[in-house]
Amino acid sequence: MSNAATDLPDSVTLAEGEGGLPVVRVATAVATGEVYLQGAQVTAWTPAGSDPVIWVSGAARFAVGEAIRGGIPICFPWFGAGREPGLAPPAHGFARLVGWRLIDATDDAGAVTLTLRLTDADVAGLPAAAAWPHPFTATYRVTFGRELAVALTVENTGDAGVSFEEALHTYLAVSDVRATAVVGLNGAPYLDKTAGATPERMTQRGDVTFGGETDRVYGSVGSVVVRDDAAGRSVGVTKEGSANTVVWNPWVEKAAAMADFGDDEWPMMVCVETANVLDDAVVLAPGERHTMTARYTVTR
Ligand code: BG6
Repeated sequence: MSNAATDLPDSVTLAEGEGGLPVVRVATAVATGEVYLQGAQVTAWTPAGSDPVIWVSGAARFAVGEAIRGGIPICFPWFGAGREPGLAPPAHGFARLVGWRLIDATDDAGAVTLTLRLTDADVAGLPAAAAWPHPFTATYRVTFGRELAVALTVENTGDAGVSFEEALHTYLAVSDVRATAVVGLNGAPYLDKTAGATPERMTQRGDVTFGGETDRVYGSVGSVVVRDDAAGRSVGVTKEGSANTVVWNPWVEKAAAMADFGDDEWPMMVCVETANVLDDAVVLAPGERHTMTARYTVTR
């Protein structure tokens, strides 16, 4: 099945979304969801009976080649500015800026799985990809159901070893980040990126709570729970194939400095990112592949 997928299940439609960008919409009795082909970016998931779980800024730009502020951006093949000079711009790699191909869609009793693909051939000639000229196939599986499951598989299709960073940069909707706790990182080491050019090495004590700009890369393979007591709900994030959890909220000044982020929106979101970055970058020998999975569940 290609982008011109004719054989979609009834629960799946390919439409023109915001800014005229192609979007795949899913609607079943179990959940609704949305993925933009640009960046294979999930921009919505709402299990039946729940409020939206995924946050997108009201100021997000939907334009060819621009990152969409919110949802689940895929950061690949580098994170932030990358580990070597000359990778950024663009920040967080090129995967979130380019069109992926929808190659399959299935509906299993209301749990809809979309498969999207990006290869080096898809980005050949793009200035953003010139800094990382390695053959690869990236396959992204998204299942919208009672839970949301996303799995990014990267295969090294070249004949030399390769390393890359990756993150599923999930923006979760919360009622007020100041009353939200991320539980499950107690004792984990982290880099505090708000400390300036040289991030500070710290150790988490207790739950992560928010009282200012927060930008941390944790060393942690475990699950977390995002507790939103004001909303009376928690979102569990379980993962596989990931050595890092990144927690980010821009707070007042950083939010105001971003053109695609409403000045007053920062209390409504927290990013909890499933990642392999910095010293935990993935290394693949020729022919090898690696999968990183994140699953989200809502509990009341
Ligand atoms: C986070 C980074 O993952 O993404 C932050 O740790 C960064 O440093 C944030 O500011 C947003 O990045 P961007 O490129 O989408 O503005």
